[in-house]
Amino acid sequence: MNTIGPIGVFDSGYGGLTILQEFLKELPEYDYIYLGDNARAPYGNRSFEVVHDFTLEAVRFLQKKGCRLIILACNTSSAKALRTLQQIDLLNEDSDFRILGVIRPSTETIGAMSQSNCIGILGTQGTIQSESYKIELEKFSPKIKVIQQACPMWVPLIESNKHNTDIGVKVIENDIQELLEQNKDIDTILLACTHYPLVIEHVRKAVGKNIQVVSQGPIVANKLMDYLFRNEFMRKQISKGNTCRFMTTENAAVFDASATQFLEKAIRSTQVSL
Ligand code: DGL
Repeated sequence: MNTIGPIGVFDSGYGGLTILQEFLKELPEYDYIYLGDNARAPYGNRSFEVVHDFTLEAVRFLQKKGCRLIILACNTSSAKALRTLQQIDLLNEDSDFRILGVIRPSTETIGAMSQSNCIGILGTQGTIQSESYKIELEKFSPKIKVIQQACPMWVPLIESNKHNTDIGVKVIENDIQELLEQNKDIDTILLACTHYPLVIEHVRKAVGKNIQVVSQGPIVANKLMDYLFRNEFMRKQISKGNTCRFMTTENAAVFDASATQFLEKAIRSTQVSL
């Protein structure tokens, strides 16, 4: 196929903007479409089937917009839908199209960051239950012990802009305490949900100075740079116009008002239906 198009970046809501932000820093020359399924977020507590169906709808939508490369900037979709999309839904279609997630790049990188070989993973219920991080990290860093903690309230708090309230901070502190009580050797914590960089300061405060807290954005952007460097066929399929369009399934004005917290620039989105 000889068409070119933007890179599609998808998340259930606002969280993927923390990944897009790093793409725009590292790879500003490309065109992007960001799609947030805010009307149906959060995905974290939904079943495998529903997350798969919603993610497939989003992917189809972005394909119709001309995207030749789509990044699922959502751990929940990456954990619950990516494999089925790659291995079943899209298998016999256009062989030059690619869909990538955020779990693989994170697990390829995070293992080397721990001195104690004990890593804490904070994620949505769906991501944690899928065990994707445990399974993938065991492949890349068999020595690493993975301690997981589901934080089912964090995305709803962030999507409703309540993460800085006293109750929001208390919820975060409680989940951190539960994680740390599981193993005292944890020296590195991965924020395995693209929404969580918004609460990174609360997390840092709760864990103290001796534990490093890592966001995925820079890791995923770095891996995408590397991927595009190695894949000329994909590079040639991406349009270079230095543009970024924003689409949401929610009200556009609501999206624009909240999105600036995640991406430090003014945003004018369009409301779409999938
Ligand atoms: N940002 C999504 C993730 O990385 C949030 C999922 C949700 O909607 O609960 O998992």
